[in-house]
Amino acid sequence: MQSRITAISAYTPGRIVPNSYFETIVDTSDEWIQTRTGVIERRFTAEDEYTTHLCFKALRNLLQDNPEISVSDVDFIIVATSTPDHSVPSVASQVQNEFNIPGCGTLDVASACAGFVYGLILAKGLIAAGTHKKILVFGAENLSRFTDFSNRNLCILFGDAAGLALVEQSAENKIFDSLSGTDGSMGKELYRSSLSTLINNVPVIADARTHQNGRLVFKWVVQTISENLIKLADKNGLNLAAIDWIILHSANLRILEAISKNIGYPLERMPQSIKYFGNTSSASIPLAWNIALMDGRIKKGDKILLMGFGGGMTFAGLMVEW
Ligand code: UT7
Repeated sequence: MQSRITAISAYTPGRIVPNSYFETIVDTSDEWIQTRTGVIERRFTAEDEYTTHLCFKALRNLLQDNPEISVSDVDFIIVATSTPDHSVPSVASQVQNEFNIPGCGTLDVASACAGFVYGLILAKGLIAAGTHKKILVFGAENLSRFTDFSNRNLCILFGDAAGLALVEQSAENKIFDSLSGTDGSMGKELYRSSLSTLINNVPVIADARTHQNGRLVFKWVVQTISENLIKLADKNGLNLAAIDWIILHSANLRILEAISKNIGYPLERMPQSIKYFGNTSSASIPLAWNIALMDGRIKKGDKILLMGFGGGMTFAGLMVEW
């Protein structure tokens, strides 16, 4: 069975947080943040707003923009998130309840910033197996809840958002080859602890806040993603010049610039969501995709490489045609 992505949507919360806010709480400057990360502002959830609510609103936006789409026959929901409202029940099961979707499988995916692309790969596989036909894949994060606002290395980076794709069985195939990989030995370089105080038997700061070895992660990402974008295009029988758009996880504008330079692919053809939304982890790819659809950059028939990367360390890439 073949599949395609039939709709993309997103939602970002209303509270806009400019760089100047961080100048009031840590030793930083708008200039440092913009130069080192590309971030101008980000959005944070309200007190009573959690990842489930971001998903509900993103799906409502999708239904409003695509009145011909109904979710009553959705048969699987995947939510990529590292910030679920609860460990149990899953965010996906709360989406099922909110939209009253009968008889629907639900699954949360915990692959940090790579999670949305992992979700798309799973959706393609379920449809290819012939067991499912219509699948919602979300990337949604409430990162501001887990941020240590006294840590200037990290607090300036993150934002909250949700994005989603509708993946459907299709007469024509528009979701092509994927690849993924992991280096679990890098686990402690980007983590948020839960029950244990050890990662790979090494003690970590177990305060349920996000921690990152920024320089090491930066280097790993630039090298791994540059190599694997070329491999992904090759696996799909194309060279990068034949790809219309590359949408990477918007981790940091400097990462996108370094990868663009490494692989000789123009930065203008790499839609991003970092400048006005910060690093929104699993939500950043559908968010950037939605922005580029809304402003008319991405057109029907365009070939797109997607690649998410992050905590694990892990990455996942996929080629699709819009
Ligand atoms: O999303 C999942 C994957 N994550 C990523 O891909 C993130 C990868 N890493 C990064 O994006 C960058 O490493 C950061 C944005 C986190 C940090 O940028 P950097 O250019 O790597 O800075 P750095 O950690 O090397 O720090 C450079 C200097 C340090 O001062 P010294 O030691 O040179 O005196 C830091 O203390 O900048 C200092 N610094 C700051 N200064 C002002 C760190 N944070 C700040 C800050 N404001 N907010």
